[in-house]
Amino acid sequence: MTIILRTDAFRPDLQVIKQAAQILLGGGIVAFPTETVYGLGAVVFNEEAVNKIFWAKRRPPDNPLIIHISKISMLDEVAVDIPEEAFRLIRVFWPGPLTLILNRNPKVPKLVTGGLDTVAVRMPAHPVALSLIDETGFPLAAPSANIAGRPSPTTAEHVIRDLHGRVDAVIDAGETIYGVESTIVNILSKPPVLLRPGAYLVEDIERVLGTRIIVPDYARGLRESDTALAPGLKYRHYSPETPLILVEPLSSDLSKLVDTVKELSLKYIKNGFKVCVIASKETLSNYAFNSHNVIVLSIGSRLNLFEVAKNLFKVLRSLDDLGCSVAIVEGFEERGLGLTIMNRLRKASTLKIQA
Ligand code: TXA
Ligand code: MG
Repeated sequence: MTIILRTDAFRPDLQVIKQAAQILLGGGIVAFPTETVYGLGAVVFNEEAVNKIFWAKRRPPDNPLIIHISKISMLDEVAVDIPEEAFRLIRVFWPGPLTLILNRNPKVPKLVTGGLDTVAVRMPAHPVALSLIDETGFPLAAPSANIAGRPSPTTAEHVIRDLHGRVDAVIDAGETIYGVESTIVNILSKPPVLLRPGAYLVEDIERVLGTRIIVPDYARGLRESDTALAPGLKYRHYSPETPLILVEPLSSDLSKLVDTVKELSLKYIKNGFKVCVIASKETLSNYAFNSHNVIVLSIGSRLNLFEVAKNLFKVLRSLDDLGCSVAIVEGFEERGLGLTIMNRLRKASTLKIQA
């Protein structure tokens, strides 16, 4: 049985929060909104509850969970020997979509960290998430609230679609703000390493840190990660059921990108396949082929990558309702949020073509 609880995002309904906190304190699991995507939470110290998360999501047990806190005094409960650099970032970026890899407090069950001696911790910038953690009184372990491998949920409807009947409650507070997950930085490495690009820009984090952050190929979505570093990154991710072809721009010349997407789409259409094209507002009109076998979806403006990031998972999820045999998506330049968008698109795609 899954209870659906509704509240305003900015003025959380205290009754709803109290009810959800009671479920968590009783060992249940609750999906709740954060500023990035919906999370599926359990009290971090309750192994049985944490186990339910892995079961509900069908998540492999070696893929560790992010721990969510609502106040800085909770940090010591989950992490020890916190380096000074971490506090420099925390002061500026928390609450917000920055997850830091820190040394695990032995009180945190190894089940949460997939056996690692480190923990991933963040303080979400969402009133509902913060008041839920506060009311529960414990840090919450919470991965994204989707079935493993599917696009992350940015609305409660997405969560319900994946997890109805598998979780105790879903708090519906509308659409999330960023639409992509937090940026994960291993601050224990010298120099620090980006494990996953996210809603916060690497460039901004570097500025506050005063040092460079290493961006490995796997953080760009190019190669599988070293299992020991970021176990979650080796799994299939963000994937719609519809096969997805990503056309990656090799330069800022959009005409090459458009030509390749066009050519590819026409080839499929001619062969009788129904094609979904996912394009930016700027290039959309190029795909207005005179055929009922094409659906063109807008992912947002190239001049506003926040819009693209916010729409990304929503558009990927919508593919599966459109009955296309194949989907083709335009890529973006890997600058700013473009790095995050390309990481997600590369992981979601079944085939990558360069233009
Ligand atoms: O925005 C977000 O971060 C969302 C919301 C719900 O907070 N959460 C999220 O969690 O994206 P999840 O489980 O989908 O992704 C967690 C990632 C995985 O790639 C996992 O491998 C990595 O964090 N991770 C967790 N603990 C780690 C650790 N100790 N060392 C390295 N990577 C870790
Ligand atoms: Mg996830």
